[in-house]
Amino acid sequence: MIPFAALVLVTTAFTEARPIPHPLIIVSRLVNDSDIYANWPTYDQLPLHPSFPTKAAWGVWGDSDELGALNHIRNTTILDAKSEIQLGQTFNLNLQLSMPDPPLNPNRRPLIHAIQPFAGYQDDVVTLNTQISTQFDGLRHFPYSTNFSQSTYQFYNDLITFDDIMAPGGSATLGIQNTAEKGIAGRGILLDWAGWMESKNASFDVFSAIEIPTSDLDAVATWQGLDPTSVFKPGDFLVVRTGFTKQYDALSPHAQAILPYREDANATFIGIEASDATLRWLWDKKLSLVGGDHPAFETLPLGNSPIDGVLRSLHEVFIGGMGNEHWYELPYLRILTKFFASQSST
Ligand SMILES: *[C@@H]1O[C@H](CO)[C@@H](O)[C@H](O)[C@H]1NC(C)=O
Ligand SMILES: *[C@@H]1O[C@H](CO)[C@@H](O)[C@H](O)[C@H]1NC(C)=O
Ligand SMILES: *[C@@H]1O[C@H](CO)[C@@H](O)[C@H](O)[C@H]1NC(C)=O
Ligand SMILES: *[C@@H]1O[C@H](CO)[C@@H](O)[C@H](O)[C@H]1NC(C)=O
Ligand SMILES: *[C@@H]1O[C@H](CO)[C@@H](O)[C@H](O)[C@H]1NC(C)=O
Repeated sequence: MIPFAALVLVTTAFTEARPIPHPLIIVSRLVNDSDIYANWPTYDQLPLHPSFPTKAAWGVWGDSDELGALNHIRNTTILDAKSEIQLGQTFNLNLQLSMPDPPLNPNRRPLIHAIQPFAGYQDDVVTLNTQISTQFDGLRHFPYSTNFSQSTYQFYNDLITFDDIMAPGGSATLGIQNTAEKGIAGRGILLDWAGWMESKNASFDVFSAIEIPTSDLDAVATWQGLDPTSVFKPGDFLVVRTGFTKQYDALSPHAQAILPYREDANATFIGIEASDATLRWLWDKKLSLVGGDHPAFETLPLGNSPIDGVLRSLHEVFIGGMGNEHWYELPYLRILTKFFASQSST
């Protein structure tokens, strides 16, 4: 058993407004700033209290923490990453703001871009659903829920409710501004799953529900000349290239236009397997964020796998449970991959 600071809190003011009562027991780890992994719970020790949802890391960074896995990024993490820079080259990992068009989720509207001319100058005016292009999922985006029912929503550290988000002038708690203010800098590890598959002449369809297991990710690291047991350091970013953007780009405009409108059972996209094995693998590595060149990091549709015995998605556990930001759709990964291939001696 690992030591926790436990505080029993009686709530009155908030229970009425909260469909799910704030946990009556707040349990959190004692975080020692000079030794941040002292008392670090294992995956099996999550959650810290049985009233918390499936594998939630609530309290691991303190009961009022709003940064979650970004806490793995420390001054030393960034200094260590700096020491690995060899070439000083930069790469754009962003899609165009308008892409994909139409958005892969048909409920999302495409970007609207207008030019507003004035006397002597002109401005760009952009109306954007921030989920359609390269983007981060913040901690207000995706709570735990039971069959998507709003009354069952549970957000990271149980700091807010759906009503808090929707209320006019509602709170900014768990907002993406926390991420912007902390800043994201550090070391990313690119695992080129698509390149590994192509090297084996293995065919795959990114528009199917392929579930990439962590055993594949370990094999990809080995294929890239990395030791999967030691290459990751706390605070690293994991970026997986599935080949999604390459296959999407190769579609005809007509095929791109109808892709979002496949019927339910066919609305599938490649991703990482949603499972305890995946969560354990990521938890043990102490990664600060995960990303990829594909729509949802995990396989779509969501939530078809049992996690700790409950049907959950990685979205729920990552965002609602661990405060892990997701980072999607990085098309230029293939440029980066080609670049690394050409630098294979370094
Ligand atoms: C925090 O960690 C440092 C370094 O290991 C140790 O010297 C110190 O005693 C710890 N503080 C507490 C309160 O445990
Ligand atoms: C990181 O650096 C900032 C600026 O020097 C400092 O205020 C902060 O205490 C440092 N954090 C740690 C954990 O050393
Ligand atoms: C969703 O889950 C809630 C809570 O378990 C349950 O009451 C409700 O009937 C479910 N709704 C559907 C459509 O399954
Ligand atoms: C893949 O196919 C190419 C071209 O047919 C061939 O040269 C190569 O040996 C194959 N590689 C594997 C691992 O089968
Ligand atoms: C899925 O696609 C196949 C092949 O195009 C089609 O025959 C089938 O009806 C589709 N299923 C659904 C549920 O749309």
